[in-house]
Amino acid sequence: MSNAVIHDLGILDLDAKAAELEPTPKTTVDTNTGRSRKLYIESYGCQMNYSDSEIVTSILFDNGFDTTSSAEEADLILLNTCAIRDNAEQKIRNRLMHLNGVKKRNPGLQIGVLGCMAERLKTKLLEEEKMVDMVVGPDAYRDLPNLIQEVDEGQKAVNVFLSRDETYADITPVRLNTNGVSAFVSIMRGCDNMCSFCVVPYTRGRERSRDAHSIVAESQDLFSKGYREVTLLGQNVDSYKWASEDGTEHVNFAQLLEQVALVSPLLRVRFSTSHPKDITDQVLHTMKQYDNICKYIHLPAQSGNSDVLRAMNRTYDRDWYLNRVAAIRDILGEDCAISTDMITGFCGETEEQHQDTLSLMEAVVYDYAYMFAYSERPGTPAAKKLQDDIAADVKQRRLTEVIEVQSRSSLARNQRWVGRVHTVLVEGTSKRSQEHLSGRIDQNAVVIFPKMHYQKGDYVQVFVHDCTAATLFGNAVQDQ
Ligand code: SAH
Ligand code: SF4
Ligand code: F3S
Repeated sequence: MSNAVIHDLGILDLDAKAAELEPTPKTTVDTNTGRSRKLYIESYGCQMNYSDSEIVTSILFDNGFDTTSSAEEADLILLNTCAIRDNAEQKIRNRLMHLNGVKKRNPGLQIGVLGCMAERLKTKLLEEEKMVDMVVGPDAYRDLPNLIQEVDEGQKAVNVFLSRDETYADITPVRLNTNGVSAFVSIMRGCDNMCSFCVVPYTRGRERSRDAHSIVAESQDLFSKGYREVTLLGQNVDSYKWASEDGTEHVNFAQLLEQVALVSPLLRVRFSTSHPKDITDQVLHTMKQYDNICKYIHLPAQSGNSDVLRAMNRTYDRDWYLNRVAAIRDILGEDCAISTDMITGFCGETEEQHQDTLSLMEAVVYDYAYMFAYSERPGTPAAKKLQDDIAADVKQRRLTEVIEVQSRSSLARNQRWVGRVHTVLVEGTSKRSQEHLSGRIDQNAVVIFPKMHYQKGDYVQVFVHDCTAATLFGNAVQDQ
């Protein structure tokens, strides 16, 4: 996904980028509308979870819950969890241990686990973690009011049913942690790809696309409320496919992108994640046609070696991947930013195969990369059929090598923005200085520049004079 810091460990911690962008995983909104109970929610994992927490909050807001930014004040604490790597789950276990202390001081408090870890562990979570009252999978959030009532009545509550058609299309998310400028819009759920290392198909269920009208309406609504950027979210946005019930309308991802881009030229449109096997030239041409569709593509390779890619069941090989990168550069030009996810130490990965990952990264020169050591997930095809045979220290050493290549690439890619003027959408005050603003250029790089009279939500022409691998530094051109 496009924002490194939303992933758990294993990412390249590009100093200022992380410092500028790190979202607090907790509710920061205190609604105080006099509802009888208070919800405190924390989100972990990918942007899908952040987006889902906004749906959950909306459902509970309609059922008697205000939100609070203090766990101590809450009547209900929900952790929206991730299961992608073992360390993601460990983090939740530690958090639950801590919250158990809060519960001791406040016996009426209910604690629920939502999301992918809930779906993966199901009732085991109630047994393993005694302080959990409720376990709710990603497709069962409409059932939350009933589940809470069951807990009120002294029972433990579980709903981990996965749906084939739930998209929460009709629910207007309550924006949490919002800067009022950029928002995530979920366009599909689940994944049908079955990459052998990945737990997502098991925790999120079958792929389904959300009604295109509801996506456009949500984007329009956001724009009318002052938002200036939407990020369309799905595990594989290129396979977005929606048809109206009467069969008269068919919308693919390129068409959806266009419909959202047409909401307003002042609304920036981003999307994540693109799958190398599915990204079409039609999508690239649509990006080219609309200035407000940002020229940034997150195109995870996972490995640079074709045999490893086959073992991962990614269904493309190195040449195919490089061809897609060539198509992006051909249609959208060298300036289009490209990022990747990479896994080191996948089952059976040899030193030569690892070298292929490094050489792919050298060949593409990614703008960003999110890099992870392989973590075996129980129940996945890799766990069932392949040996997790690369020693932890080897995985880690390979990860370090991958990170080193990426650090050089990130710096090189950022350096090309220096000496140029960019349109920056201001997201807020820089975390490091009240006197500076933070925003992004079209290609997603973060820029810090002196505040002057500018405000969040403004588009500002910024001359970039300096950079690190993580951040650009500039001045608004009018003020030079
Ligand atoms: N749908 C996206 C990825 C979602 S998961 C895609 O297809 O690219 C985000 C990233 O986590 C993946 O791209 C992968 O790099 C990483 N990941 C997934 N499972 C993993 C595992 N078992 N161990 C280490 N990293 C993993
Ligand atoms: Fe996981 Fe592959 Fe689906 Fe991405 S495309 S969520 S890596 S199964
Ligand atoms: Fe994690 Fe689930 Fe997202 S496993 S990465 S929260 S889809």
